[in-house]
Amino acid sequence: MSTQHPASGARPVFSHDGIAFGCDYNPEQWDRSVWREDVDLMREAGVDLVALNIFGWSHIEPRPGEYDFDGLDEILDLLHAAGIRVNLGTGTASAPPWLTARHPEILPQVEDGTTRFPGGRQAWCPSSAVFRRYALELVEKVAERYGQHPAVELWHVSNELGCHNALCYDDESAEAFRVWLRARYTTIERLNTAWGTSFWSQQYSDFAEILPPRLTLASRNPSQVIDFHRFSSDELLGYYRAELEVLRRHSSVPVTTNFMVTAHIRNLDYWQWAPEMDVIANDHYLDNRLADPTAELSFAADLTRGLAQGGPWVLMEQSTGAVNWQPHNLAKAPGEMTRNSLTHVAKGADAVCFFQWRASLQGSEKFHSALLPHAGTDSDLWREVVDLGHTLDRLDEITGTRVQADVAMLFSWENWWAADGESRPSHGVDYLSQVHAAHASLRRLGHTVDLVRPGADLSAYKLVIVPSLYLVRDAEAEVVSNYVAAGGHVVITFFSGIVDEEDRVRAGGYPGAFRELLGINVEEFAPVLPGQRLTLASGMTATAWSERVRARGAEVLDTFADGPSAGRPAITRNVVASNSSTRGVARYLATSLDPDALDAVLRDAAAEASAHPQGDEREPGLEVIRRATAGHAIAGDTAAASDTPRSYLFLINHSAHDVETPARGLDLVTGDTVDNIARVPAGAVRVIREDPAR
Ligand code: GLA
Repeated sequence: MSTQHPASGARPVFSHDGIAFGCDYNPEQWDRSVWREDVDLMREAGVDLVALNIFGWSHIEPRPGEYDFDGLDEILDLLHAAGIRVNLGTGTASAPPWLTARHPEILPQVEDGTTRFPGGRQAWCPSSAVFRRYALELVEKVAERYGQHPAVELWHVSNELGCHNALCYDDESAEAFRVWLRARYTTIERLNTAWGTSFWSQQYSDFAEILPPRLTLASRNPSQVIDFHRFSSDELLGYYRAELEVLRRHSSVPVTTNFMVTAHIRNLDYWQWAPEMDVIANDHYLDNRLADPTAELSFAADLTRGLAQGGPWVLMEQSTGAVNWQPHNLAKAPGEMTRNSLTHVAKGADAVCFFQWRASLQGSEKFHSALLPHAGTDSDLWREVVDLGHTLDRLDEITGTRVQADVAMLFSWENWWAADGESRPSHGVDYLSQVHAAHASLRRLGHTVDLVRPGADLSAYKLVIVPSLYLVRDAEAEVVSNYVAAGGHVVITFFSGIVDEEDRVRAGGYPGAFRELLGINVEEFAPVLPGQRLTLASGMTATAWSERVRARGAEVLDTFADGPSAGRPAITRNVVASNSSTRGVARYLATSLDPDALDAVLRDAAAEASAHPQGDEREPGLEVIRRATAGHAIAGDTAAASDTPRSYLFLINHSAHDVETPARGLDLVTGDTVDNIARVPAGAVRVIREDPAR
């Protein structure tokens, strides 16, 4: 792959020959005698990108200031000799015991003010100056030694920054929070206004009085909580920059860190982080606590591509089978790992990497799957791994192409923090579920969706979905209104446009920022209890939420037939005509529709917007995604310019039966020519290089 961030100017470009197939490798856990066998087996499987030194600190600096690079030297040279490129960890992810014993003040504190101890990992406070000093000394040594090593293709800063320690409430964090607040608000009066501290006698007379939002008896000031999230995300980004700055002094190799775009971690605002990465990298694990883990994979991959501004990205970690950190760690079915991997590729990944190479025999992750399982090479899993390596080789020509989508959805981490506040109208709804529901519906309808940040240019899209965007800035709302005024089609769902960036309600009726655009006014929220079903006049059903909507120009498409908002509009449609030829449409959903009903509404909206599904909803198990060179672009810029336009159709069969679908071209997976109809066996994936005359 080769990818350059549009805004990166002279920043290094991550470039790998073809689609990378890789893994985390922790050779420290193994006797040297195993290393050669590992490298031989990596070659057999086609592994060509290996992450090293992620948790290396206590090995390479066994005592303060005493460095031992023998092992790392040897393994880097072994990999290099085998032609395997290295994604080199700076080694700072987890502090060694000597550091926490010597400086217990670096340990993190959770919201009740208690300390979290070493013995796990990432036991450090993001604001700790002492931790940062020691960590940067290590980075300096690693960068000095390996900054010019020919095997190093990518720098891997720390590991999953903020996975465990994103929110730290100790005194050092409190001081850093005050510095951040001073920079944001300048005066205490401005902070008081922004946080609404006239409520509950919370007025501050000095920044020195401010604490992180530690655990309280009554609910906490929501603006303070949101600002603490913003601060915490910025604080770790500052830490990333500090490591980056050291690396840059010694090396021109691209730098990244592995994001966690996932359902259960939400503490970093990756829209802020993404522009600072030389390549976007994500870790993704199927979450079997969710009703539909594969739908979430699809969403996370779309969002990761959004962070990469539509360009290629790196899947830095996933699992071959079970993880060890869910209550029930499910093995993957035969073929599922391949299907997961190729779904990521379909959605823009130009690298497929795993945690980890060889399954550990000890430690908390000994029951986590790996490329090389405890059972060894005489196993179905190993055979599937080798097979996947070969398949990825056959897909090399796809690198650099871009995913085609004409539907976009807004997503915001900041809104996630704000909308899911302690004192919200109903704990029966949460932001991510609403986003997932809308995304899953579009996926069922066969659409590929680009996830974009509020405020992003929407002009390339036929249809835009705005699910529960509670917190929105004036300028961000304006982009949506202007898009509709220019003829765009939007679907906005309940609990959107309610507050400004300081969490202050936009008075005059909900959904404040979108009221005019939608031609409605909501007087009151009327959520319902869990288990209560709502019926609309059309017979469609919903749960959790209703509200008292008044149409102010919008056409009423459906009304609540029962529940606390009976007789009031539930679905509306407002036509915005700027002139006789430009007509945009803004739909509103005032409830949490059941899947069939949501599909019906979005199907209509997409049809009216002339958004074209790639898949066919009559074949619900078949996910269809197209990647193409710039000549085929529907949306996004032209990063992958090419003289001969090429397009690739990914046919992913999640179902238990064989499926036939129209396609013409060469199947890169099997090498077969496809004339008119592609047959995709149950559970399989086909990737068709399409004939130009499609
Ligand atoms: C994360 C970490 C890895 C490993 C895996 C296990 O992704 O980065 O070190 O712990 O989880 O799933």
